[in-house]
Amino acid sequence: MGQSNSLHDHYEYGVIRGLVMSTLLFGALGLSAGLWAALELTWPVFNFDLPGLTFGRLRPVHTTLVIFGMGGSALIATSFYVVQRTCQVRLAYPVLAYIVWIGWTVIFILVPISYMMGYTQGKEYAEFEWIFDWAVAVIWLIYFFVYVTTVLRRKQKHIYVANWFYLAFILATTLLHVFNNISIPVFGAEGLKSYNVFSGMQDAMVQWWYGHNAVGFILTVAFLGMMYYFVPKEAGRPIYSYRLSIVHFWALTFLYMWAGAHHLHWTSLPDWVSSLSATFSIILLLPSWGGMINGIMTLSGAWDSIRTNPIIRFMVVSLSFYGMSTFEGPLMSLRSVNALSHYTDWTIGHVHAGALGWVAMITFGSLYHMVPRIFGGKIYSEKLIFAHFWLATIGIVIYIVSLWVAGIGQGMMLRAFNPEYGTLAYEFIETVKFMHTPYIFRAIGGGLFLLGAVIMIFNFIMTMIIGSRAQADSNAMIPDARAHA
Ligand code: HEM
Ligand code: HEM
Repeated sequence: MGQSNSLHDHYEYGVIRGLVMSTLLFGALGLSAGLWAALELTWPVFNFDLPGLTFGRLRPVHTTLVIFGMGGSALIATSFYVVQRTCQVRLAYPVLAYIVWIGWTVIFILVPISYMMGYTQGKEYAEFEWIFDWAVAVIWLIYFFVYVTTVLRRKQKHIYVANWFYLAFILATTLLHVFNNISIPVFGAEGLKSYNVFSGMQDAMVQWWYGHNAVGFILTVAFLGMMYYFVPKEAGRPIYSYRLSIVHFWALTFLYMWAGAHHLHWTSLPDWVSSLSATFSIILLLPSWGGMINGIMTLSGAWDSIRTNPIIRFMVVSLSFYGMSTFEGPLMSLRSVNALSHYTDWTIGHVHAGALGWVAMITFGSLYHMVPRIFGGKIYSEKLIFAHFWLATIGIVIYIVSLWVAGIGQGMMLRAFNPEYGTLAYEFIETVKFMHTPYIFRAIGGGLFLLGAVIMIFNFIMTMIIGSRAQADSNAMIPDARAHA
């Protein structure tokens, strides 16, 4: 598992170590905020009557910390690792790479504080105000420059497919971020406030073109970049079908951009736009499942490793949830199904099947592969990886099943009629009461998931300590060796 010193000298790992630490910090904060939000939904007393902790403010704190803080840092870290290893060249402009790490970390520490103070653009996943939008844009362009320059300096003729996925993620995020955030700042008493140039239906369309492609290009395409590098590496086998990975890439990048309007079914959106988005969403099932099969089949001939290697287990479960959520998503994009699922917890269950099952599990698997290598040691405890795996997997299942019950149950209650009078069978508050028990289970599932992550963080801290001791010992050996020579 370890890495020779010559490789440490050859590649730039310092900035990746920093980004891994940011990932762990944001992961701990973001998952805790999620659990807290889950507790508030179950027992509202958990907001302690403090404005900064009310659900409306805590929710974007959670989503921003997990998506941009944890997910973003993990993606930048792994992309810097993958681009160096697959292009066999040192990272270009390491100083700029350090600016990306520090800039990203500082921004996503300040952003949640601004939400808790009440500042928001009111656009989901793009809540941070204009000043942070500008800061993110600058850091992102530097990231793009470092990444592309490294690819251009490559010693390998071929650009391995994982880099294609990372590049699509970087380019698409630039496009989405810029267009969705065109807004006019208001100076004076309102402080950080700004107003978006789009309004009404145009605003909704641009927002959900952004929101859906943030899911498509950040939470899916980017993490597929991780998958295409770390799964074959950990399995010690080439990817099952390279051709399929190219089809997967082009199909996803083409199809995702058209599907955003499925978030706006049954609104004042034109009907044909709604149908178009549903059609593209259904087609998306095919390349998504092609990609899942490609990942899982990479293990063919090495199935036994599922029994013995806990990292492979994380990867197999993540691919299974990738398949599950990309089946559920197209289903929910059908207008008839969406009439039931929208405005209910079924959506939140789908989100977390993707977010916990796919995004977080592939991240954990990749980190377990990468961390010992960049810190120059062996993982502290393999048993703790098994413990983390079971806590996370059981936690996810409890989370999703309880929200299927809450969501589908609520949807059915909201549409039930009294046949003799034609009136609604339930009042809204009755659905809220019904959801209380599933909410308790969701909090238990989230708690188990968080506990697993805390164990992982402990395992990594110990791995880092062992790695730095081993490094210090080997440095101390060098003068001795010279003395004996
Ligand atoms: C300990 C684990 C987690 C818990 C307990 C948790 C809990 C929650 C809760 C209570 C909400 C608000 C639901 C609502 O508005 O009704 C939420 C929303 C959300 N969470 Fe999590 N979460 C966790 C992990 C994650 C992770 C790892 C990600 C992403 C990688 C994530 C992404 C999201 C997103 C995108 C939403 C917004 C969903 C929507 O608007 O439909 N969560 N989460
Ligand atoms: C073929 C793939 C997928 C399709 C077609 C799809 C489709 C959908 C649909 C129809 C909704 C409900 C929209 C609504 O009623 O408002 C939704 C919500 C969502 N999906 Fe997916 N999904 C897919 C895969 C994924 C994956 C892999 C993730 C990863 C995390 C994900 C994350 C989300 C999020 C975060 C939302 C909630 C957005 C919001 O309302 O805030 N989806 N998706």
